[in-house]
Amino acid sequence: MNRVKKGALFLVTLSFLLGLTSCGNKINEETKEIKIGVTLYKGNDTFINDIRKEIEALVKNKEEAEVCKITIDFVDANGSVINQGNQIDRFISREYDVICVNLVDRTAAATIIDKAKDADIPLVFFNREPVEEDMNRWNKLYYVGAQAEQSARMQGNIVIKAFETDKSAVDKNGDGKLQYVILEGELGHQDAAIRTEYCVKSVMERGFELERLADESANWQSDQGNEKMTNWIKEFGNSIEVVFSNNDEMALGAVYALKTAQVPKEHWPVVVGVDGINEALEAVKDGTMEGTVLSDTQVQATNIVNIAYALAIGQSLEEVSPIRNGKYVLVPHKEITKENIDDFIKRPKIKEIK
Ligand code: BGC
Ligand code: CA
Repeated sequence: MNRVKKGALFLVTLSFLLGLTSCGNKINEETKEIKIGVTLYKGNDTFINDIRKEIEALVKNKEEAEVCKITIDFVDANGSVINQGNQIDRFISREYDVICVNLVDRTAAATIIDKAKDADIPLVFFNREPVEEDMNRWNKLYYVGAQAEQSARMQGNIVIKAFETDKSAVDKNGDGKLQYVILEGELGHQDAAIRTEYCVKSVMERGFELERLADESANWQSDQGNEKMTNWIKEFGNSIEVVFSNNDEMALGAVYALKTAQVPKEHWPVVVGVDGINEALEAVKDGTMEGTVLSDTQVQATNIVNIAYALAIGQSLEEVSPIRNGKYVLVPHKEITKENIDDFIKRPKIKEIK
């Protein structure tokens, strides 16, 4: 037997002894099925649905590129903590390798964590971040999300740029202040709280004056955004100069309200969102929204899949993801305005991930 063959035999034996599978390292031909369960807080949330689609595409690519079979099952908790608890129980009793959790209630992860810990099944949380105390309950907990403060600062920057480019088009009453309203996401969501705080703070820090007209939660939803904005248009007339929205859905709701109220172009406020969903990109293109901030679902999904997969096959996580403090992946954002909109509308789909 030559040295190469001996080496190969040694590796096969070693991987067998260590219980490694063929998945990911292709050392032997034996295949193993990996089971990943994903529970979504609400399947009809546009942004979450985008993440889901990206995850599905990535898993398909990964499966084609690797030797092993990956079963990925999505379930929708439909906003119910009880549903989500039952879904986790089922994943555990069916011995899934990893469970990815988009929490219904981000402040109540302890029960889920304790069950997973008992069964020794790692959890990858995403988009709805458990509180730190809960993240410290076990060492097999991970979180993939976005850098909320950065997204808010970018919104602020888009508003400042618009103002500096054409002062009278933004400060319509010429009083030197920007009269604004905020459409907040769901109360208690980390992204909503942080985006609300920093969109305003970041503009003030750069020396601009702002005046708050109104600030309400529209729960991430466009119909509620529309409703709030319709009331504000009635209340404040043309004095709304800026609409900060914690996400695109609500910003689109505000745009719909402005259209319905037939607000003319010269009174149209600067509307900014976050996420970069398709409809918002169209709105940036046609000028009804000044801009949005991309919360990259493709990169977030890539990290979720890579971490889940690595955990399932026992691969080191440092190799696959830029993990902070052994637990967190916080994906950076990008500003989107009319200037660079075409780069995003024509964005290529995922081809392959390593
Ligand atoms: C997104 C929202 C989404 C929410 C769901 C946020 O990060 O910006 O669009 O509805 O997550 O948890
Ligand atoms: Ca003004």
